[in-house]
Amino acid sequence: MTMTGFPDLNAPSRVLLGPGPSMVHPRVLRAMMAPPVGHLDPYLLHLYQEEQSLLRYVFQTRNAWTFALSGTGTSGMEAALANLIEPGDAVLVAIHGYFGERMAEIAAGLGAEVDRIQRAPGEIFTVEEIASALARRRYKLLALVHAETSTGAEQLHIAEIAAAAHQHGALLVLDTVTSLGGIPVKVDEWDVDVAYSASQKNLGAPSGLAPITVSERARQVIERRKTPVVSFYLDLKRYAAYWGEAHAYHHTASASLHYALREALRLVAEEGLEQVFARTRAHAELLWQGLEELGASPFVPLEYRLPPLTTARVPQGVDAHRLRLRLLEEYNIEIAAGFGALRDTVWRIGLMGYSSRRENVTLLLAAMRELLHN
Ligand SMILES: Cc1ncc(COP(=O)(O)O)c(C=O)c1O
Repeated sequence: MTMTGFPDLNAPSRVLLGPGPSMVHPRVLRAMMAPPVGHLDPYLLHLYQEEQSLLRYVFQTRNAWTFALSGTGTSGMEAALANLIEPGDAVLVAIHGYFGERMAEIAAGLGAEVDRIQRAPGEIFTVEEIASALARRRYKLLALVHAETSTGAEQLHIAEIAAAAHQHGALLVLDTVTSLGGIPVKVDEWDVDVAYSASQKNLGAPSGLAPITVSERARQVIERRKTPVVSFYLDLKRYAAYWGEAHAYHHTASASLHYALREALRLVAEEGLEQVFARTRAHAELLWQGLEELGASPFVPLEYRLPPLTTARVPQGVDAHRLRLRLLEEYNIEIAAGFGALRDTVWRIGLMGYSSRRENVTLLLAAMRELLHN
C-alpha cells in the first residue's frame, strides 16, 4: 500500500497490437531515462537538428519547416488546419472514416465553410471523385487521411490527388498518423503541402509528439495570413522561431520525449526506410494469412489494405468484446474493437514499429486460436 491508499502496482508490460500506441524498443526506453535538460539547453537544440533531419528522411522531404510538435497526433491535425484556415475559407474534406470526420469538425470550429465528400467505412476515393468535388468551388484546401486507422484502408493515388488539388488552387493537408514510417509517405514527390503524424505508431516512440512538415507553398500561405493563428500553442511560425536560429522561447518542450523520438527515428534510419516497409508488409501478410485460417478474414480488399493496421471480421457467433478482453487478461495482448458502425463486427490489429515482429504475430494467432475454441 502507498500513502494514498492505492496498491503499489507496477505498470503492466503489454504486447501492444492495437491501433497505437505501439511497443517501444529498449533503446528508446533507455533514451528516456536520461536526465531531462532545459528547453533551451544547447544539447536539446542540437538534438533538434538531428531529429529534424531524421524527420525529413521519414517524410521524404526537404521542407525547411519540419518539426515535432509538443502534443499527440491531434495537435498535428489542429496545427495543420489552424495555420492554414482563416474564417470564411472554403475547405473540402474527403472522409473515409472517423479521422476524416475529426478533420471536418476541427475545420468547422476554425470558422471554415466545410464541404464533405464521403465513402463508406473500408472504402477509398477515386481520383475522379475528388477532382470533381474540387471543381465545384474555389477551396483553400483539401483535407484527407492517408491511412484510416478506424477502417484499415489506405487512400491510394495521393500524387494524383495532390495534382488535382493544385490544379484547382487548393492545398493538400494529409494525415499520415498511421502511415508515416509504416508505408511510403513521399511528401516531396507527391507534392503534399502539409503532412502530420504521431510519435506512437510506426515510429515507435511513446505518444506526446506530432511530427509535421510544411511545403514552401503552404509556408507562404501561412506567412501571408490576414488574421492571426487562433492557437498560440500550435502557431507554426512560433515553432520555426524556436527550432530555428533565433531559438525563441515558445513553450517548455519535453526533453525526455525528444530523446525518445530521436532514438526511435535513429532505429528507423539504421534499419532503412525501405526495409522497414518490407518488414511491416511481411508481418502483415503473415497476420492476414493466419486470420483467414481462423475464419477472421481481413475486412478491407487487398488492393488498398493497410499493412500497419488490419481490420479483421469477427467470425459468426463470437463475442468480439469478450475475446478482446480475454486476450488482454489472459495473454497480456492488446488489440482494439472496431470503430463506429464496425464496432461489433471487426477487430483492429496493429503491427507498427517495434510491435511489427514475427513473434508477436505467432503469439496473437495462437492466442486467438485457443480463445476461439474455448
Ligand atoms: C489517422 C489518425 N489521425 C489522427 C489521430 C489522432 O492522434 P492522437 O490520438 O495521437 O491524438 C489518430 C489516432 O489514432 C489517427 O489514427
